[in-house]
Amino acid sequence: MSEEKITMPVSGDEQAVASEARRSFLRKSVAVAGGALAAGTVAGRAVASDVVKDPLPIPPTNKMLGRGVVSVPYGMPSKFEAHVVRRNVEWLTPDTIASISFTPLQDLEGIITPAGLHFERYHGGAVDIDPATHRLVIHGMVEKPMIFTIEDLKRLPQKSGVWFMECPANGGMEWRGVQMDSLQFTHGMISCSEWVGVSLLDLMKAVGVKKEATWFYAEGADGSALQRSIPLPGAKDQFGKPIPDADKIYKDVIVAYAQNGEALRPENGYPIRLVVPGCEANLSIKHLRRIKFSNKPLVTYQETRHYTDGMPDGRFRQFTLINEANSVITFPCPDKKLPGKGAYEVRGLAWSGRGKVKAVDVSVDGGKTWKEAKLVEPVFSKCLTRFTMPWEWDGKETLIMSRVTDETGYTQPTLRQLRKERGTNSIYHKNSIQTWKIEANGEVKNVQIENL
Ligand code: CO
Repeated sequence: MSEEKITMPVSGDEQAVASEARRSFLRKSVAVAGGALAAGTVAGRAVASDVVKDPLPIPPTNKMLGRGVVSVPYGMPSKFEAHVVRRNVEWLTPDTIASISFTPLQDLEGIITPAGLHFERYHGGAVDIDPATHRLVIHGMVEKPMIFTIEDLKRLPQKSGVWFMECPANGGMEWRGVQMDSLQFTHGMISCSEWVGVSLLDLMKAVGVKKEATWFYAEGADGSALQRSIPLPGAKDQFGKPIPDADKIYKDVIVAYAQNGEALRPENGYPIRLVVPGCEANLSIKHLRRIKFSNKPLVTYQETRHYTDGMPDGRFRQFTLINEANSVITFPCPDKKLPGKGAYEVRGLAWSGRGKVKAVDVSVDGGKTWKEAKLVEPVFSKCLTRFTMPWEWDGKETLIMSRVTDETGYTQPTLRQLRKERGTNSIYHKNSIQTWKIEANGEVKNVQIENL
């Protein structure tokens, strides 16, 4: 492509209306922008603040380059976005059919995770099930056991919400120290979608759940037949201790068949999955095939083999189901270094399994001072929330971090506070403040500060 072609005026139509007035307006705009950017770039070229090119180097249209508009049955991202993919940590699931892949949070904007980039975790392999043959069986302590086809479920009233989905092992590789120099691997087991389906409350009404039922057991048709016990009001654990928030968790639950406008992806539970908003994602059973109502937790293989929290005294906690408030700065981050000193917008994500994010504070001086960030609308309950804060980087080494407070008043703990309560012998529910170290060359490192 020659220089002349790229700097040509845009199209015939626009050429016709390009008056001298418009030209002088553009000239003024460029002068202002050039002054502000001083040695910045326009369309990838260096622009000195004292030089104004006219006509401007506006990119040509498809038509001028001889490219047609390509219509494809299902659109894919641009080839220039091919680096935006899920990734796995090979040593996490070596030589097994289990899988974990992480969402590239560093490359995403807004609060919705594209379905194809939603993290996934399987203990026994994903499946792609024919919806025509799949069934949901609901039985146990009910008046009328029922079998639902997918079509049956789709005839029932719809319920939807924009909710995050987070594995409780998100961050779990870092209890004892720094392991992963990548936002994708420190926090990428969270994603957020609009989920559409049927309310659990409607299904409970349809089968007539008996009063003595205080739990339900959900089971998937994946390779491990993943099983979890989920509390209803009055639920007690196997030792008779009440389950916190049992009166709240079940109210939002849906059996979902759609995600971000389309059918669930196979790796996200096609054709139906449970969605338990705010709770550890393993409760949101994929390829849901069975719900059984009960008066006790089933204490299944998966919920004892996994999902229990090691405590400092050597004992383990079970049924810690809600993901507490957490936040992380997504720019800058180890995956997105700073090209040089100057003006930036610090950006990040915050969330709480208990409701809405109320406020996020950001520190750019290692926790000495904190400033309240701006929350970016929309702010939904149990949903990823964006925050931003303007920042002028002086080019010196520093530590940056974010701290969320949710609508219940709960504030994200420091690593020291969390370790004091939980020790370091755990995998799950690590929601402490994440610190990134900005180096003088603009590189960003994952660090842990013991004394924060
Ligand atoms: Co838990």
